[in-house]
Amino acid sequence: MTAGPLLAIVVPTFNERDNILPLIESLQDPLRDLRWEVVFVDDDSPDGTAALVRAVGGDDSRVRIVQRIGRRGLAGACIEGMLATTAPYVAVMDADLQHDARLLPEMLRALRDEELDIVVGSRHVEGGSLGGWDEGRRLVSRVATRLSQLMLKADLKDPMSGFFMLRRDVIDEVVRNLSGIGFKILLDIFISARRPLRFKELPYTFGVRVAGSSKLDSMVATEYILMLLDKRIGRYVPTRFIPFAFIGGLGVFVHMAVLFVLFRGWGQPFVVGQTAAALVAMTFNFFLNNFFTYRDRRLRGWGLLRGWVSFTLACSVGAVANVGIATYLFHATPAGGPWWVISAVAGIIVGAVWNYAVTAVYTWNPKDAAASAR
Ligand code: GDD
Ligand code: MN
Repeated sequence: MTAGPLLAIVVPTFNERDNILPLIESLQDPLRDLRWEVVFVDDDSPDGTAALVRAVGGDDSRVRIVQRIGRRGLAGACIEGMLATTAPYVAVMDADLQHDARLLPEMLRALRDEELDIVVGSRHVEGGSLGGWDEGRRLVSRVATRLSQLMLKADLKDPMSGFFMLRRDVIDEVVRNLSGIGFKILLDIFISARRPLRFKELPYTFGVRVAGSSKLDSMVATEYILMLLDKRIGRYVPTRFIPFAFIGGLGVFVHMAVLFVLFRGWGQPFVVGQTAAALVAMTFNFFLNNFFTYRDRRLRGWGLLRGWVSFTLACSVGAVANVGIATYLFHATPAGGPWWVISAVAGIIVGAVWNYAVTAVYTWNPKDAAASAR
């Protein structure tokens, strides 16, 4: 019988093929006296990252893979990697060698010898640095850091770090509360803990990416806000309902603009204007939701046409329900007073919830999205 690893390094990957061997190599020397393993969590990268990891793992049992199909997301990948190992100590680090593997032994020592729950590789404590970041990215990072510190009870200098190590029992404690949305798994862990976590930040210098390209794009900011939102209200409302309803609100403006042009401007019959306006607004909403709300399940190619049809059908039924309920309430409540507004709002809420629920299942079904991604 061989004992399992003491330390697992969880490495989320998406198109990191050329970084796999250098990363494994960078672990060898710092971890030479330890029982360790590295768990790559790959979201089915088209570049064949998972196949390469399997090939390496065939010769080295310390190298393991979790391959996820039809899903994307850094935080979610980290969570599944942490759950896939038996090791009592778990670290998370990027594949591109921007995190300094030489810090790992010191992190582990601190975690074992001191009364700590988590050790964070930090760019913002004495001795740490952002390396070659330009002013723009430094600024964005600073704003996001400030925002997160508002929600954190801990005085963490680098809550955006993707490089940290924690004890198994801390994972067990928080894992069911994690949002798992977006990039900020560390922040997620800190906010999800029901008590202040005992932490320590160790300085390191953020390196330059070795090969491949960064996956951090403009959507990361949106996902970041979604994650913070989810922390605040996710218990009461599905997080995606917020952008969905917001986009629905924008759709009302689009509708009114089209109606205005056709009916008032061009003198078309009202029913023509209203029908065209509804179609344009639904199409507008479909594309915006496909781009933002369901970014991770985005429909493409023929899926787009199928999605548009199902979205339009669902929303048409939603509109009928909206008008039906509003009209019923309007007649069932006393004349005068605020009742006409309350009736209208009730119709809108029922319509919006219907549209959200039906399109979440039929238009942006996770299984279809996985199929259309290939
Ligand atoms: N499985 C999986 N799925 N992995 C992903 C995904 C995904 O959707 N997106 C990114 N990754 C992996 C990358 O392959 C890489 O190993 C790691 O996550 C970090 O991604 P990068 O694209 O290199 O991110 P970065 O360097 O811009 O951002 C890093 O620094 C930030 C600090 O500002 C990350 O460590 C962030 O977590 C960190 O906040
Ligand atoms: Mn990187």
